[in-house]
Amino acid sequence: MDQNLFNDICLRQLTFSGVHEGETVAVLTRGSERGEYADAFLWAARQLGAQAFHLRMPAPVNASGAWAVGDSGLAGNRHAVEALKAVDMVVDCTFLLFSKEQFEIQDAGTRILTAVEPPELLARLMPTKELRERVETGAELLAKAQTMRITSPHGTDVTYRLGVYPTMSEYGYTDTPGRWDHWPAAFVFTGGADDGVDGKIVLAPGDVLLPFNTYVQTPVEITIEQGFIQDIRGGAGSSGLDAELLASYIKSFDDPRGYGMSHVGWGLDERAHWHGLTQFPGGMGMELRSFYGNVMFSIGPNNELGGPNDTPCHFDIPMRGNSLYLDDELIVDAGELTVSEMRPADKR
Ligand SMILES: [Fe+2]
Repeated sequence: MDQNLFNDICLRQLTFSGVHEGETVAVLTRGSERGEYADAFLWAARQLGAQAFHLRMPAPVNASGAWAVGDSGLAGNRHAVEALKAVDMVVDCTFLLFSKEQFEIQDAGTRILTAVEPPELLARLMPTKELRERVETGAELLAKAQTMRITSPHGTDVTYRLGVYPTMSEYGYTDTPGRWDHWPAAFVFTGGADDGVDGKIVLAPGDVLLPFNTYVQTPVEITIEQGFIQDIRGGAGSSGLDAELLASYIKSFDDPRGYGMSHVGWGLDERAHWHGLTQFPGGMGMELRSFYGNVMFSIGPNNELGGPNDTPCHFDIPMRGNSLYLDDELIVDAGELTVSEMRPADKR
């Protein structure tokens, strides 16, 4: 993207995030990645009268290639962590999420915005106040619920016992001390009790496997008992290829906690395209997590919600055309949100 355009969208972002005179913004990058992001955010912070600096960490070594969450590169680097705790806002261009260091920085009152997706996607899914309000409506509903049930025409029927973990919202900017968000994003989630997820999930063609960044082609049946996956197999009549890939990947971490059930919720952004992976195959898949009416469940760590599971093996799986009930009230009806305050203005 042209650097002037990039500067402009970062200025809009930091304005949403409440950056103002007297604040200090740190931009975090790693190795040679995303130097142009740092330039744009540093420029934008200065336009708003804030102090700014760029903290560039060394490139990761011995990377396995797998998406192992929680390794921030900040571990053991006290001076770097303290520098980030001391500022008002960190723009994280490295993906710190699930790391101990991210939580420590937030606990110090520093707000964190992650920005790692391609600039063109950042521009197209620029946050809005209206979308934030719709996401917060969803979060309020979710926070009150004691159970969540997800069903699909393909045979999914799974129940999460809620009420143990907090509800989180992501709407693409953050103006609250200590709060984290990710640009772009528009979804809500919480987690089931550690032993409180039971049932079957049947992935259908077109559902999305992140971080494979692929669309499911062959049905996958996942059996869950007491919060852990007990079985992964190809659905009736399928070659079972996607089931084998999913099972092989999780197995490679050699960690029983990799079979745990993680966060669960739904997406709200009608501008986000289900077909987005065909446009940005190298991104993190935030467009897929956000597309309107998706129901997303996840596998692996729940430490982001305050839970005990900090396995590095993590899947996010947005699904199309599913239905979601909170305490038996239909909230997502085959991919359509039922509550008018969560719908875009032209769908109310
Ligand atoms: Fe996730």
